[in-house]
Amino acid sequence: MDARELKIKYLDFFKKKGHAVIKSAPLIPEHDPAVLFTTAGMHPLIPFLLGQPHPAGRRLVGVQKCLRTDDIEDIDDDSHLTFFEMIGNWSLGDYFKKEAITWSYEFLVKVLGINSKKLHVTVFKGDKAAPRDKESAEAWLSLGIPKNRIYFLPKEDNWWGLESGPCGPCSEIFIDSGVPGCSAECRPGCGCGKYFEVWNNVFMEYNKIKDGGYERLRQKNVDTGMGVERMVAMLQNRKSVYDTELFIPLINAVKSLAKRQGLKSLRIIVDHARAATFILGDERGVAPSNLGQGYVLRRLIRRAIRHARLLGIEKGVCQAVAEVVIKNYAKEYPILDEKHDFIIKELVKEEERFLKTLERGLRIFEKIARNKSRISGRDAFLLYQSYGFPIEMTQEIAVEKGIKVDVKGFTEAYEKHRGLSRVSAGKKFKGGLADASEETIKLHTVTHLLAEALRRVLKKEVRQKGSNITPERLRFDFSFDRKLTEDELRRVEDLVNEKIKTGLRVWHEQMTFEKARKAGAHAEFKAKYGEKVFVYFIGDFSKEVCGGPHVKNTRELGKFRIVKEKSIAAGVRRIRAVLEL
Ligand code: ALA
Repeated sequence: MDARELKIKYLDFFKKKGHAVIKSAPLIPEHDPAVLFTTAGMHPLIPFLLGQPHPAGRRLVGVQKCLRTDDIEDIDDDSHLTFFEMIGNWSLGDYFKKEAITWSYEFLVKVLGINSKKLHVTVFKGDKAAPRDKESAEAWLSLGIPKNRIYFLPKEDNWWGLESGPCGPCSEIFIDSGVPGCSAECRPGCGCGKYFEVWNNVFMEYNKIKDGGYERLRQKNVDTGMGVERMVAMLQNRKSVYDTELFIPLINAVKSLAKRQGLKSLRIIVDHARAATFILGDERGVAPSNLGQGYVLRRLIRRAIRHARLLGIEKGVCQAVAEVVIKNYAKEYPILDEKHDFIIKELVKEEERFLKTLERGLRIFEKIARNKSRISGRDAFLLYQSYGFPIEMTQEIAVEKGIKVDVKGFTEAYEKHRGLSRVSAGKKFKGGLADASEETIKLHTVTHLLAEALRRVLKKEVRQKGSNITPERLRFDFSFDRKLTEDELRRVEDLVNEKIKTGLRVWHEQMTFEKARKAGAHAEFKAKYGEKVFVYFIGDFSKEVCGGPHVKNTRELGKFRIVKEKSIAAGVRRIRAVLEL
């Protein structure tokens, strides 16, 4: 069974169980300043897990593009990927453990034909915050999974959630690969390769608050996730995800350019170039830069290029992989095709930039490292600043040579020069949660007022190109071809404040995307034909397709102030604004 067939089978199975198919959200989250990338299928669903009604209903199923950056430097084993597809089904306050577990079993055993004797499952052992999950264990027992294949495990293994927000105990499903265990203690989650993790069922009835405590959610949810690439490898009896149809053509593209062999480099190149293609080719795609998502992208491309060099490839490696990725995924993600030229152009540009300094940088590295056991922060910064070596790359090369890098010293040097902390940017890589605080909700609503005010003052169809909201401020990117005058900015501000003072009601209606467009609602993204969406109305002033949440009346918003307006790309402007008491 190939990946496409697996996805179709999964969607069909859950459609028959009353689930609506939702399409993948962008890889770069829409309204979540806390994380750089969507890391799980539940991520775009956070507001709905917290209780907001979803326009498609209470039972959802879909494939989500995901990107995890925690272990970029460890990529090259059999199963970890930077970019992957997660397929999952969700219950938003609808069915719970019994149904979720029964359907997981049915799908694996009856649809995919997996021998039930190979299934091993884990359930939550219980602690102060939540009780032992007897209900899930019962459900597995009733399906014929014997006690000795049901493992009660503690929070470290059997609890799932982001840094805060919806979370809960989970029940993970493993398949015994048949190889002997590494020790008498070997059990699911051990990582030696005996147990292959295929699916996670999370029972989200808790909300982790920022101070670390838990409270009960308004509703009991189910969030499940299956890594498509891993499952395909398992179904095809392959030891590694790289030995499936998803990677073989990419590996062949690299091999045809390579002069030398090297499995590790080969894997790194295809993983990274594939992830880079999806970042560039995302609905909210970015170009390489030194910040945020752009920096992750840069790291991926540059690391792929360095490894290509180890295989004797002089240039063009990322582009070659990208062409195959685009071709293979364009049916499912047409955006890749639409962005084909942008993807290739940016890969070429980044390669040209990096190749200018790579050779010299490597020579300097040799010189710096000669007879040393440690590279100083200043030298690491020199490699970064003058030769474009991301610090992670310097560390990687250092490890290869058995020496250390003073990363703290590097960070200090970096901060001194940039007045900006890479460490705090680094923290963002690790994941977090869509902040649904009162402040961000307010800023989200005022963003709609701002978009409409811009349209009215500038008398142009200003299109939203992106938005990013933290509890402190909003950032709004929009299409416009010149700098706004002081007068225009003041008029925009005044108009927004006028609408706040008037106290306009905010409400939403559910309709198909086509109807929303006909009604004149603005939308940042295209939706599938017939797909139901929410349209948020603010009095008779603004209509926008949006998932919410929003305040109920603009009176709640306070005073709106634009802090800055600038250009971020040709034809795209950025406004930063705040709400004051
Ligand atoms: N959100 C859960 C996971 O990523 C399903 O494992």
